[in-house]
Amino acid sequence: MADHILAIDQGTTSSRALVFDSSQKMVGEGQKEFAQHFPNSGWVEHEPEDIWTSVTWSIKRALDKAKLQPRDIAAIGITNQRETTLIWDRKTGKPIHRAIVWQDRRTSAICEALKGDGHEEMVTERTGLLLDPYFSGTKVNWLLDHVDGAREKAETGDLAFGTVDSYLVWRLTGGKRHVTDATNASRTLLFNIEANAWDDELLALFGVPRAMLPEVLDCDGDFGTTDESVFGAAVPIRGVAGDQHAAVIGQACFAPGMIKSTYGTGCFAVLNTGETPVRSKNRLLTTIAYRLGGQTTYALEGSIFVAGAAVQWLRDGLKIIGKASDSGRLALGADANQNVYLVPAFVGLGAPYWDADARGAIFGLTRNTGPEEFARAALESVCYQTADLLDAMKKDWTESDTDTVLRVDGGMVASDYTMQFLADILNAPVDRPEMLETTVLGAAWLAGQAIGLWPDQEGFAKGWARERQFVPEMDSATREAKLAGWRDAVSRTLSRPD
Ligand code: G3P
Repeated sequence: MADHILAIDQGTTSSRALVFDSSQKMVGEGQKEFAQHFPNSGWVEHEPEDIWTSVTWSIKRALDKAKLQPRDIAAIGITNQRETTLIWDRKTGKPIHRAIVWQDRRTSAICEALKGDGHEEMVTERTGLLLDPYFSGTKVNWLLDHVDGAREKAETGDLAFGTVDSYLVWRLTGGKRHVTDATNASRTLLFNIEANAWDDELLALFGVPRAMLPEVLDCDGDFGTTDESVFGAAVPIRGVAGDQHAAVIGQACFAPGMIKSTYGTGCFAVLNTGETPVRSKNRLLTTIAYRLGGQTTYALEGSIFVAGAAVQWLRDGLKIIGKASDSGRLALGADANQNVYLVPAFVGLGAPYWDADARGAIFGLTRNTGPEEFARAALESVCYQTADLLDAMKKDWTESDTDTVLRVDGGMVASDYTMQFLADILNAPVDRPEMLETTVLGAAWLAGQAIGLWPDQEGFAKGWARERQFVPEMDSATREAKLAGWRDAVSRTLSRPD
């Protein structure tokens, strides 16, 4: 009997597939990195075929490791890098261009023009987002304007737009389903998060024809069945959520007031705010945490574009470490008397600054500064940015006076050095769970519970277990001095005064 769940996590730099058994134990895993394309300053693209082949390769590897066949899979869950924008031809299935990645800043001028014309308030009111190139809307507009004949074909319904989840479902179902889920839709600038529907005025503003949009389903909806000739068996796809939303689920942050922060390529802190959307006064995003059984749960989100990517830069750009996990060790050897700050605005700054045109900067260099101090500054920059987000969240979320506990996950949280500094600089406990694959676990849970194989929300939440809690140890004078240094560094990096 098919009683395993396959979860696919299509991320920014790699694709992963994990197979779980009916007791939620991971039994097989596959992962593949793929090429990043940077055709211009601030531009980031992915080849759709690389996305697809890295996914199929990972699925095969995970099944092989688990000694399973496609027919042993009872249901599939998908989670994905969000906002990344694809457009493909419905007849040929061929993408009209490479995917424009969430980090890509090419539409910054379009955003500025729309802001200049006074549209941001209406856009934020309906979508919970800001006019920033991060989101899909202006990326779709750019593609329609820059690919020959695209706009006409989009208007006649010959082209399909989708985020990565939508593209993968399309491919897995052999082109039968053009769908997405509410969380991914909520990142497009085209979706009204209160009405839970595509919004005609937004579509007109961003010049996106309705005919190219996918149908929006609950995260545990019926996303179709895999095509046997593609997947090797007909298996239902029963879970889809953007990666940060899947992590909220995987971390069991189901109660209002609970916060998780995921350290992948970027860092995304998400605070569950329950059934009512909370409007930020501090430049955070209001987003759909998840939509289950027609019921929407909202969240406040702080998005940082560079977290793990700063460690990648130490490895691939500066070449001062051989592998990411060396960064903590190197940082430990840094001279405590040097106050070196890295502001990793490689692709601009996200929340709460939203400065698309800022670029990275480093401050406090002396003749003694070396690889150790660069490593420490890179790791600490991620913690300072998290502190900025939590600070904004505390101002926006006044419902609860309970002390913040941050549930963390993602590759960087393996570094004890970074997690201790995070707790110190936040002055709040940081909980690292036993199961660090929370994003993919969230996607697996969506599919597993949708078919009745896995426990319900309450039962799943009971299974969440902490591996270690990091408690703040830094004295407040040191913390305040460090934070002041960070704020000064940021203010000198912004492309315009904050
Ligand atoms: O919003 C972008 C985010 O979904 C990408 O996540 O894990 O690939 O850094 P990640």
